[in-house]
Amino acid sequence: MTLPHFSQAMSPDRAHTGPEPGEMRVRTWHLGDDRQSLVLASRNNRLPEVVYWGPPVGGSSIDEIAAAARYDVTGGMQDEIAPLSLSPEASMTFQGQTGLTARNLDGEVIAPAFLFSHEEKQQNTLKLVYQDNGLGLSLTLDLELTPHTSLFKLRTRLDSREDISVDWLAAPVLPAPDHTDEMIEFSGRWCSELLTRRLPFAPGARVRDNRTGRTDHAHFPGLIVCSKSASNTTGEAYAFHYGWSGGHKMVVEELADGRRHVQFGHASGTMEKGKSFETATLYATYSAQGFNGAAVRFQRHVRDHLVAETRQTRPVHYNCWEAVYFDHDVDELKSIASLAADLGAERFVLDDGWFGHRDDDTTSLGDWVIDPRKFPDGLTPLIDHVKSLGLEFGIWFEPEMINKDSDLFRAHPDWLLGALDQTPGRQQFALDMSRNDVRDYLYDHIAAILETNDIGYIKWDHNRVLPVADAGQAEGVYALIDRLRRVFTAVEIESCASGGARIDFGILERTQRVWLSDSNDALERQRIQHDAALFLPASVTGSHVGPRKCHTSGRIFDIRFRAWTAAQRHMGFEMDPRELTGEEVDVLKEVTRWWKDNRDWMMQADILRLDSADPAVTAEQHLAEDGERFVAFAAQMRTSDQTLPRPLRLTGLDASATYRVSLANRNDAPRLSRGEPLLKSRDIDVSGQYLMSHGVVLPWRFPDTIWVLEGHKL
Ligand code: GLA
Repeated sequence: MTLPHFSQAMSPDRAHTGPEPGEMRVRTWHLGDDRQSLVLASRNNRLPEVVYWGPPVGGSSIDEIAAAARYDVTGGMQDEIAPLSLSPEASMTFQGQTGLTARNLDGEVIAPAFLFSHEEKQQNTLKLVYQDNGLGLSLTLDLELTPHTSLFKLRTRLDSREDISVDWLAAPVLPAPDHTDEMIEFSGRWCSELLTRRLPFAPGARVRDNRTGRTDHAHFPGLIVCSKSASNTTGEAYAFHYGWSGGHKMVVEELADGRRHVQFGHASGTMEKGKSFETATLYATYSAQGFNGAAVRFQRHVRDHLVAETRQTRPVHYNCWEAVYFDHDVDELKSIASLAADLGAERFVLDDGWFGHRDDDTTSLGDWVIDPRKFPDGLTPLIDHVKSLGLEFGIWFEPEMINKDSDLFRAHPDWLLGALDQTPGRQQFALDMSRNDVRDYLYDHIAAILETNDIGYIKWDHNRVLPVADAGQAEGVYALIDRLRRVFTAVEIESCASGGARIDFGILERTQRVWLSDSNDALERQRIQHDAALFLPASVTGSHVGPRKCHTSGRIFDIRFRAWTAAQRHMGFEMDPRELTGEEVDVLKEVTRWWKDNRDWMMQADILRLDSADPAVTAEQHLAEDGERFVAFAAQMRTSDQTLPRPLRLTGLDASATYRVSLANRNDAPRLSRGEPLLKSRDIDVSGQYLMSHGVVLPWRFPDTIWVLEGHKL
């Protein structure tokens, strides 16, 4: 609900001119619901600042909150404290990172002094427009609170009378409140996406400027600000996500006076000269229930609002990449598809290698024509076979890329993005996606494949960083995907970029799944998917059972660990099924059956990360939308320091209800588990309070194994 407050009536003509000498005008606004409040205040028509962000302010007067928030002034300071506004301005003697860095075409720095122009209010939205008439600039701040998922969606737009050049434009700037101490930020690498790092605040700025041109493994655009004691299940957390696929910049700054602020925008220098500039959407939320409170809102928002299609039953995937790589042979692929179907697969994805002369990764990107050497009768015989098994057919593309050894490059060398003599990445180069002719070419070729073949799914890849960071590239790919989706409405798309290098809410507005990582190593997957759950629901997060000996780590894991790990998300297989032993086939079939029996509620459940008392155990609980059932997965990531397993405390349950808890895989207890914890022989009926306070006593187990606990409210 938006409740605007005006401590002093403004006449529209005065609104642009600022106060008379000695006059002080305060405007206040409140955006909030039953989970959080954001209070804005502005003085003298200047840009507003957040004066409160936290639990709902309830009966307090918004004007009083704004007035009470004013800090003192002491020695060594300016006589007025520069506001930490939604776009901090140098013209207010703000000493930190400003919200806008721009120059005119003569190269002179522009330092606007924006004044209130007008506002538009609706139920959950607030648009504030500010102008600097002298400079011919207008700044529009859009704020929205999503009604069901309680996320603030924030965007900044800058319009200029003249052409200018913008180096930095921040989405509306939010404070990191004074009672927070730490930030959790995200880094990573190929096969180790979404690595979290918890850092204390310190004077100065923590800057992440992702100039790779894509979201990238190393720069997931998220941040959590919290107190030292905050955990998955308790404490206060402020979480942020910048929904953009072209590379972001984040600034978390502690000023000399102690205040801190958080800025997100496009990577520096990626906005070109022009008259209009706009940030992507910054999502932000306050949680009083630890990281899970924020994670659940992000998960639900992605699942129910960004990606509505995932409400439909999610099919079990089979992807042939790690089985055959570029070596496509129709008969072999058919027999693999038959085995995959027998295991329980419902969608067969033909990966890289079907087009041009693509026998390895040195050639043919851009030549999106079926290779007649490998598929003499086109894809139809394989698709017909796959469909006869009851599976849907999916196919791999990497549309934005080109090899120099391709017909496309020979015809259009000028379509390459960046210099001709640049360093390649995986032997390949990027196409300039801002060009209409490039996008038309790609549309025509992808559409031709989709029109002439029965294809329900695209795995859309992006396997290198860009030679130049430029917003036009991400805008171009968005436009291409949007155009394809308008025509091929039933085709789902997976966002892949060497695994998880393009995961963000910008791409998720137009795709239905992400390939979280090229690592099918179950131990690594446990870590990656656990951290990804801070933002992503199970329904969009691909997780596959890989080969017995993992191709990216060389490790060997038991099929039970691999299968249950994939069953925690949108399940699939990616090994050569011909390598499976009879026992492995049986286990995989059983776990896949379990997943199919549970997927309809599980893919709509909240993933709650558990605070495991044992650092060697990574655990999470999927709680059904109606709260009636749950499943908890407790993975033993290494041997524990202590002998006895520490009870696993659950979360989010109805304290007074009784739950029946069972061990779905109790037969997996090893011989060294010699005692008789109750769950080994039968189910237990206990209260939610007991499960959340004491926790469940689990049998002893080896490292690289997992317990699966099912619970039903009685
Ligand atoms: C990337 C993807 C893989 C696979 C290969 C194909 O590495 O992440 O899953 O599709 O490309 O070349």
